[in-house]
Amino acid sequence: MPLQRLAVNSLRNLNAVDIHLSNRINLFYGQNGSGKTSVLEAVSVLGLGRSFRSHKLKPLISTEDDHFTVFGAVHESDLLRKVGVMRSRSGDSLFKLDGEPVSTASALAECLPVQVINAQTFQLLEGSPKQRRQFIDWLVFHVEPEFLSAWKGLQRCLKHRNSLLRRDRIAAAELAPWDLELCLLAEKIDSLRESRIQQFLSVFETLVAEFIALDDLKLSYQRGWDRDTPLQEVLAETIERDSRQGFTYAGPHRADLRIMVGKQLAADVLSRGQQKLLVCALRIAQGYVFSQQTQRSCVFLIDDLPAELDSDFQSIMARWLLKMDCQVLITGVDRDTLESVWAEHPTVNRKVFHVEHGRVVVADGENT
Ligand SMILES: Nc1ncnc2c1ncn2[C@@H]1O[C@H](COP(=O)(O)OP(=O)(O)O)[C@@H](O)[C@H]1O
Ligand SMILES: [Mg+2]
Repeated sequence: MPLQRLAVNSLRNLNAVDIHLSNRINLFYGQNGSGKTSVLEAVSVLGLGRSFRSHKLKPLISTEDDHFTVFGAVHESDLLRKVGVMRSRSGDSLFKLDGEPVSTASALAECLPVQVINAQTFQLLEGSPKQRRQFIDWLVFHVEPEFLSAWKGLQRCLKHRNSLLRRDRIAAAELAPWDLELCLLAEKIDSLRESRIQQFLSVFETLVAEFIALDDLKLSYQRGWDRDTPLQEVLAETIERDSRQGFTYAGPHRADLRIMVGKQLAADVLSRGQQKLLVCALRIAQGYVFSQQTQRSCVFLIDDLPAELDSDFQSIMARWLLKMDCQVLITGVDRDTLESVWAEHPTVNRKVFHVEHGRVVVADGENT
C-alpha cells in the first residue's frame, strides 16, 4: 500500500508541496532546516493521525497560517484510496478517508501503516524496558485484535489492585477478585505476545545473519514474572513487598525483550553503529512480520540516515529494505551520500527529491 501522491500545505515550513512518489525508494535531500523531517512528519500525520516528533498536531501548523492540510493517495490493490488530515489553530481537526470524515486516527493507520526510524528509535537497546515493551506490543496490537481490550483490562486491574495495596490494612478478600482477573489477563497477554515474538524472532535471526556477523546475539522475551511459576503464586509470595511499595511488582506490565551478546547486554558491548544497525534490523523485521500477517505493507520513514549510520551500514540497511519490498522515504543533507548507497541497485525504482525552503521538487536526473 504505497503512498502514490503527497500534498501538503502550511505544515511547519512546508507549503504548496504536491509530489508523486516512487512505490519503492524515495530520497529527500536538502540543507538543515529545509523541511526534510517535516515531509516525513506529514506522512506520519496521514498514517498515525499525529507526528512522531510531537503528540500534538498544533505545533505543526505553520506560523504563517491558521491550519494545515495533508492529503495522500494510497495504492491498495487496484484502488486508490484518498486520505486527508486537517488541523486548525482553533482546535478543529478533521480526518477524511475517501472523502468521508472518520472519527479516529486508527482508521488512517489501517490505510497507511508507517514505521519510523529516527534518532529516538535508536534508544531502543539502552532505553527503558517500557520502550522495548512498546516495540513488542506494536506488532501484537496490529495483528491480534484481542490484545487491546486485554491490555486495557490489565491497566484497570493494576490500578485497583495498587490502590488497595496502598491502604493501611488490606483485606485479602478484597484483593482476591483483582488477583484472579489480573492472572487471567496476564496469561492472555503473555500468550499473545509469546506467539508473535516467536514468529518475529525467526524472521529477525535470518535477517541479521544474512548481512552482519554478530556472534552470540540472543534475543529473549521476558514475560514479567518467573517463567516456571504461575502468577497467582508469585503474587501470593510477593504480597508483603507489594504492599510495602504500594504497587504490583510482577506481571506482564514488567515484560521486556532482553538483547544479549554472549553473557552481556548488547547495549553494553556493541558499538554505537552496531547498536543502530541492530535497531534497524529489529524495526525492519517487525515490518516484515506485519506484512506476512496482515498482507499489508508498512511505509518506512527513515530520518537522516547518513547522519546515523556510516556508509557500510547504510548499504546493509539498503539490502534489508530491498528484500522487504516496501516503500521507503529517506532523508539526508547531501544528495551524493544519500544516493551512493542505492547505486549498487540500479534497477530498483527510485526517485530523488530536493527540499528547499519548504518546497519539494523532483531532482534532475532522477532514476525511475
Ligand atoms: N510551526 C512552524 N511554522 C513554520 N515553520 C516551522 C514550524 N515548525 C518548524 N518550522 C521550521 O521548519 C523548518 C523545517 O524543519 P525540519 O523539517 O526539521 O528541517 P530539516 O529536517 O530539513 O532539517 C525549520 O527551519 C523550522 O524552523
Ligand atoms: Mg531533519
